[in-house]
Amino acid sequence: MGVFREDALQGKVAFVTGGGSGICRGIAEAFMRHGADTAIVGRKMERLEQTARELSEATGRRCLPVSADVREPEAVEAALDTTLAELGGIDVVVNGAAGNFLSPAAALSYKGFRTVLEIDTLGTYNVSKAAFAKVLGRKGGAIINISATLHYTGMALQVHAGSAKAANDAMTRHLAVEWGAANIRVNAIAPGPIGDTEGMRRLAPGGFAEKLAKSVPLRRLGTIQDIADAAVFLASDAASFVTGAILVVDGGSWLTAGGLSPMG
Ligand code: COA
Ligand code: NAP
Repeated sequence: MGVFREDALQGKVAFVTGGGSGICRGIAEAFMRHGADTAIVGRKMERLEQTARELSEATGRRCLPVSADVREPEAVEAALDTTLAELGGIDVVVNGAAGNFLSPAAALSYKGFRTVLEIDTLGTYNVSKAAFAKVLGRKGGAIINISATLHYTGMALQVHAGSAKAANDAMTRHLAVEWGAANIRVNAIAPGPIGDTEGMRRLAPGGFAEKLAKSVPLRRLGTIQDIADAAVFLASDAASFVTGAILVVDGGSWLTAGGLSPMG
């Protein structure tokens, strides 16, 4: 049983990049449980189709799988067009698509650094700009960028992802200011370490996840539900005067994790 009213997002349509898996799948499911039809966007159509079937069965709402690489503006525009045609509008955009891996800065190839910035930062811009042009600029709405806390302390082996998410935090504030007059709220969620996700599998190998969990002031890893609840709040009218905010949902982790490193 959720903590929000079941109809908190009734009548809304969401467009969630990265919604085929992990945290953003959880966000898509939570939106649907609160009344929103939802498009989920990623590169792998097979996984998107399976997720869409499962989420529709679980919630009774429409879930539209749409394949697009967020690095390609034309593909993003086509994905938005498909969603508008099939679901009749878009009120909430979640920019969750991202790529990451551990790598020492000195060993990272130029292309490796560029690829992560292209997915996380250019992808977020591409989707936000196209959604503004196609629907949000006329009707208003909410954008939620999925950030991180890596860049608060400069975690080792993460210069690519930390640089990308820092740029996204700046973008969140710039667009909140510029698009406020169009009644578009632009916020971010900065998850801490979230258990049972691809991100944690890639970034916390060996015993690092356990080490991190012990260092969290609330003494546990986060759950996908923790992030999904924050997203429902930011998408809902309960956050109608909240924009330009970066909501850290990490159990206090970044305050104490600064000295920890996946390098050991
Ligand atoms: N360490 C160092 N460099 C790496 C790497 C790793 N583990 N994985 C990829 N790279 C580099 C590649 O070597 C390549 O550069 P090069 O051609 O100079 O060698 C560059 O990154 C691009 O890799 P490629 O596999 O061509 O990119 P892609 O667009 O197919 O995939 C990734 C993007 C690399 C981010 C891929 O891991 C991905 O799709 N991730 C999505 C899921 C994810 O990361 N989830 C966690 C989110 S927190
Ligand atoms: P995940 O399951 O791997 O989610 C990433 C999603 O992005 C995948 O569904 C992937 O689908 C999609 N994607 C990747 N590249 C894409 C591209 N070029 N175009 C379109 N879609 C693309 O990982 P996760 O751990 O749940 O992470 C989700 C978000 O939370 C990310 O923004 C991540 O940075 C953030 N985050 C996670 C943690 C954590 O602890 N897990 C902590 C802080 C922040 P396809 O492969 O089908 O494209």
